[in-house]
Amino acid sequence: MCGIIGKIGPDAGRFVVEGLKALEYRGYDSSGIAFVDSGSVKILKGVGTIDKIVREPPLTDAAIGHTRWATHGGVTDFNAHPHSDCTGKYAVAHNGIIENYADLKSELMNAGHRFRSETDSEVIVHLFEDAVRRGVSYMDALTYTVSKIRGQYALAILTADGHILAARNGAPFLFAKDGDALYVSSDPVPLLFAPDVYRLVDGSLLHLYPGGYELRGSARRVTGISARRVDLGKYRHYMEKEIFEQPRALAETLRYLQTLQRPEISGRVHLVAAGTSYHAALYGEYLLRMQGFDARAFIASEYLYWRGQEPDVLIAISQSGETEDLLSILRNGVSSEVVAITNTPGSTIEEYARDVVYTRAGPEVGVAATKTYTTQLTVLAWLAGIEGLDQLPEAVSQVLKNTSLIEDLSKRVASARSVYFLGRGLHLVTAKEGALKLKEISYIHAEAYPAGESKHGPISLIEDGFPVFFSVGPSVYTETASNVEEMRARGAWTVSVSPNPLGPEDVHIAVPSIPEVLLPVVEIVPLQLLAYNAAVLRGNNPDRPRNLAKSVTVK
Ligand code: AGP
Repeated sequence: MCGIIGKIGPDAGRFVVEGLKALEYRGYDSSGIAFVDSGSVKILKGVGTIDKIVREPPLTDAAIGHTRWATHGGVTDFNAHPHSDCTGKYAVAHNGIIENYADLKSELMNAGHRFRSETDSEVIVHLFEDAVRRGVSYMDALTYTVSKIRGQYALAILTADGHILAARNGAPFLFAKDGDALYVSSDPVPLLFAPDVYRLVDGSLLHLYPGGYELRGSARRVTGISARRVDLGKYRHYMEKEIFEQPRALAETLRYLQTLQRPEISGRVHLVAAGTSYHAALYGEYLLRMQGFDARAFIASEYLYWRGQEPDVLIAISQSGETEDLLSILRNGVSSEVVAITNTPGSTIEEYARDVVYTRAGPEVGVAATKTYTTQLTVLAWLAGIEGLDQLPEAVSQVLKNTSLIEDLSKRVASARSVYFLGRGLHLVTAKEGALKLKEISYIHAEAYPAGESKHGPISLIEDGFPVFFSVGPSVYTETASNVEEMRARGAWTVSVSPNPLGPEDVHIAVPSIPEVLLPVVEIVPLQLLAYNAAVLRGNNPDRPRNLAKSVTVK
């Protein structure tokens, strides 16, 4: 959450402003830029996205920027980053949480420092100011600063003479070199163009200055970042584009998997993930159990409370590779072998993995996961040794060729107060993901339930016209058809997503007849589109749902 970007080199202001736009998917409550102007640091910041704050990028050779997802302190102009020290010579942009900020703040205030924000981050720049005032080098001032703070951070400090100091502990941070120009970023996306991109290792410190850099600690070269341009093309939103990109994302993932040896999996297997990736974990659990493995899926933030036996293999799934709820499990040292599934080469998850398998979906900008989800399912099916995966790109393509029915249904859904998504067995995974998608971007209440269980409680909410979406496959047609009837008898408006209609009166979204075990990859696609259309009809920006961030790097 939150994004940091910085550059030393020509037209740094423009790079930072453009970079902030690319990082807005990380958080977009407020934003700001600090830049060197005639030997001092100027700051432009406030609530909203960078284009509302900076009309014309400043002309400068050194700048840092930040896009915020609030943790400490409300969404206000003062709390927006970067934050300045008392002298106006330094400015900091920070991601993460400084746990001991309250103590540090009162010490610094007692020593005469003036604070302007309610954030935890501002202490960093005052500590740095203190150290430099004592006459130490920038690197030593940074060393002092990080020795005082406790918590999780990626931070960049800009100095009035055009240097950038950076440090990382538990939050992602990268730097890049392209000729004489130097860059920092919390995310690989704005650095796609650079030939040399490095990920700072936790605990490392970096000093960038015009013409070079000094690294205390270590950094790893990042390879395999997709250099594909991330632009909208003919689409209205990234989410729409990413839904329609799925056939290609699946094909690329399958091509890549053909070149890969399947990681060894044996014994007790735990699959751990959050949000949409957790739904992929549920699919993985189902398939691995079907293949005779002892597998179990967990929500990452709940794994801490697991009191059973440790796994032999832990499959960690995260499109960003930076989800703190998941990384904290890995950081605390699981005894098992970790197989990571991620869409982000060079992300932190790799540091803990015995094997890394990538989804080759390409950068996903929309906050709601779409193409990374279907490619995660594909990787999991491959891990479980399921055959027939090569049918998937064409099957998804078929669904995307005829979307007029989904558009019609979306109109009705857009005016609903609440929607149920029901499924049995493997198809319950789709129901869960369908409900999450709708909730996230349309803000309509949605709930997923096992279809058979719905009569044990949820059915009491049903009244005339209540929308209920069923995901169904051949093995559960008969049982699900009864659940559809039960709902309809009470006035529900039912829609099924399946290869065949459930009955003559069924409102039916057809998906191709592929092996049932693979259907979840395909049957989610109309539900993604449904959520997308409903969000647009309600006037929401699906790429930037309120209160959410793409990559959740706090607990
Ligand atoms: C997906 O639409 C959500 N934005 C969210 O649930 C997401 O899947 C979750 O935060 C996990 O992210 P990760 O895959 O990057 O770990």
